[in-house]
Amino acid sequence: MACVRLLFVGLLVFAGEVIAEQNSNSNGGEILVMEEDELLGLFEVLGALLEDPGWAQVHPQPCTDTPWPGVQCEIGQDPPVFHVTKIHIGPDILTPPCKSSANLSESLLKLPYLKTLSLFNCFVTSPLTLSPTIFFGALSSLEHLALVSNPTLSGEIPSSISEITSLRVLNLAQNNLQGEIPRKIGGMVNLEQLDLSYNNIKGKIPEEIGGLKSLTILDLSWNGIEGNVPSSLGQLYVLQKIDLSSNSLVGMIPPDIGNLNSLALLDLSHNFINGPIPETLSGLEHMEYLLVDHNPINTSIPLFIGTLRNLKSLSFSGCGLTGPIPNSTTTLENLTALDLDNNNLTGTIPPNLGALPNLDQLNLSYNQLSGQVQLSEEFIDKLGKRLDIRGNSGLCTSNQMYKKQNNSTYLEAPVCLNTTGPKNDKTVSDKQPDDDERMKPSWYHDETSSIAPLQMNQKLISLTLVASFLLFVS
Ligand SMILES: *[C@@H]1O[C@H](CO)[C@@H](O)[C@H](O)[C@H]1NC(C)=O
Ligand SMILES: *[C@@H]1O[C@H](CO)[C@@H](O)[C@H](O)[C@H]1NC(C)=O
Ligand SMILES: *[C@@H]1O[C@H](CO)[C@@H](O)[C@H](O)[C@H]1NC(C)=O
Ligand SMILES: *[C@@H]1O[C@H](CO)[C@@H](O)[C@H](O)[C@H]1NC(C)=O
Ligand SMILES: *[C@@H]1O[C@H](CO)[C@@H](O)[C@H](O)[C@H]1NC(C)=O
Ligand SMILES: *[C@@H]1O[C@H](CO)[C@@H](O)[C@H](O)[C@H]1NC(C)=O
Ligand SMILES: *[C@@H]1O[C@H](CO)[C@@H](O)[C@H](O)[C@H]1NC(C)=O
Ligand SMILES: *[C@@H]1O[C@H](CO)[C@@H](O)[C@H](O)[C@H]1NC(C)=O
Ligand SMILES: *[C@@H]1O[C@H](CO)[C@@H](O)[C@H](O)[C@H]1NC(C)=O
Repeated sequence: MACVRLLFVGLLVFAGEVIAEQNSNSNGGEILVMEEDELLGLFEVLGALLEDPGWAQVHPQPCTDTPWPGVQCEIGQDPPVFHVTKIHIGPDILTPPCKSSANLSESLLKLPYLKTLSLFNCFVTSPLTLSPTIFFGALSSLEHLALVSNPTLSGEIPSSISEITSLRVLNLAQNNLQGEIPRKIGGMVNLEQLDLSYNNIKGKIPEEIGGLKSLTILDLSWNGIEGNVPSSLGQLYVLQKIDLSSNSLVGMIPPDIGNLNSLALLDLSHNFINGPIPETLSGLEHMEYLLVDHNPINTSIPLFIGTLRNLKSLSFSGCGLTGPIPNSTTTLENLTALDLDNNNLTGTIPPNLGALPNLDQLNLSYNQLSGQVQLSEEFIDKLGKRLDIRGNSGLCTSNQMYKKQNNSTYLEAPVCLNTTGPKNDKTVSDKQPDDDERMKPSWYHDETSSIAPLQMNQKLISLTLVASFLLFVS
């Protein structure tokens, strides 16, 4: 049956006309639209799911004259009859809803052409398990299986699911599935997306997962998965997204992850993963989201972070990080969010972070950062409460910045009493005149400040005046 060629639904109307024509030319028998067994199978499957007991009466010809958006058909050749290829009940198709005693009927066996079965929020009160024999053996043409947000879908994922080798998408997210990920899953060589997130899956990620050569999306987040991140993941060369967050994974990030040239998202947050971050990750030029927060990484931020040019979001909150914020973070032009809060980072805030054009969230709170905050006024205004530097006892701000506290309530740092530190002098004098308007000089004027910063400030003020004058005359 796999060799029966199918046309797309787009040809449905045309094909329907052909059949009607053929029939009117023949001796006027009943129009053969569907095989009776398949039609009955569909009625039984939907009868076991839907609340409306009269569904079959309202939709006697679901592939042609009395369609329903949750069922799609395609026309086969030899004989040219319609086959049910998709059953979908989800947020977009709510009437009739699933009944409280909804069940997956064995009559699925009568739908051998089914390519998509997707049931969202259908099993809410009636218990359901993924029966290894009843339907997986038969669903040999299934490409897309999505059973999502079904709180009463429990039990284990049967190994036999791997026998559906035609499967491209397996989405079993937000159910109550238990047990381990079956080892045989590695045999699903056509699988492109595997989403088992938000279940109660335990045990280790099997090394065999390295067999899923077509996988682009792997989401195992929000389970109770233990053990190491398997290095065999590094063999899945087309992976774009790995989300293993909120599990109980331990050990280091395997260096083989650095082989995944298409990787755009790596979320390992909320696990027990240790550092250091392997240097091999420096080659992941498509990486956009690197989220590692709440893991005991306990090393310094890797210097190579600056090579991940496409990074949009970098999060290392609560990772026990030590050492400085590397200056290389200031080269990440696409960065929109940088979260390094709740670590033991030391040193100063690289002033050029404030010059990153897209940076819209910066959380450096609860570290041991020190020195004067030299982020531009413009940047501080732009971020408002999305700039958080609280809980760094060594940080201080210039007087003007302090006044802005009403806007940026998380800019909790005292006024610098001492702006004569060699670091600050150097940073300020290193600036090109063009940058002076953006950079915050030390405006603080009172008895405790020394002569030197005043002279510096006067120099900066006059530069600014000259610049404004030049602008004015031009
Ligand atoms: C649900 O269907 C399966 C077979 O598909 C059957 O074994 C089971 O008894 C049914 N459950 C209920 C509650 O009807
Ligand atoms: C940044 O984002 C833009 C637009 O999404 C993209 O064209 C560019 O390649 C990205 N990378 C760098 C390094 O600018
Ligand atoms: C910082 O280091 C100290 C001493 O090692 C440790 O007690 C504390 O938990 C660390 N803080 C964070 C946020 O990691
Ligand atoms: C990592 O640092 C945290 C505190 O930041 C500490 O509690 C933990 O024991 C450290 N773990 C390792 C493996 O060093
Ligand atoms: C960053 O650059 C500034 C000025 O160029 C320098 O003073 C500082 O030591 C650098 N910090 C790091 C962590 O490299
Ligand atoms: C920054 O991080 C701290 C500590 O983790 C958190 O409480 C705070 O809400 C964060 N601030 C922002 C602006 O997200
Ligand atoms: C913030 O602004 C309000 C009025 O807008 C004012 O009453 C309050 O004192 C200000 N707080 C600080 C810390 O400046
Ligand atoms: C925030 O700052 C801007 C610019 O400095 C100012 O116009 C605005 O009134 C401030 N808002 C509050 C709530 O203080
Ligand atoms: C002022 O800065 C100098 C030079 O950096 C430093 O030695 C001194 O401890 C600072 N004083 C205070 C009160 O921070």
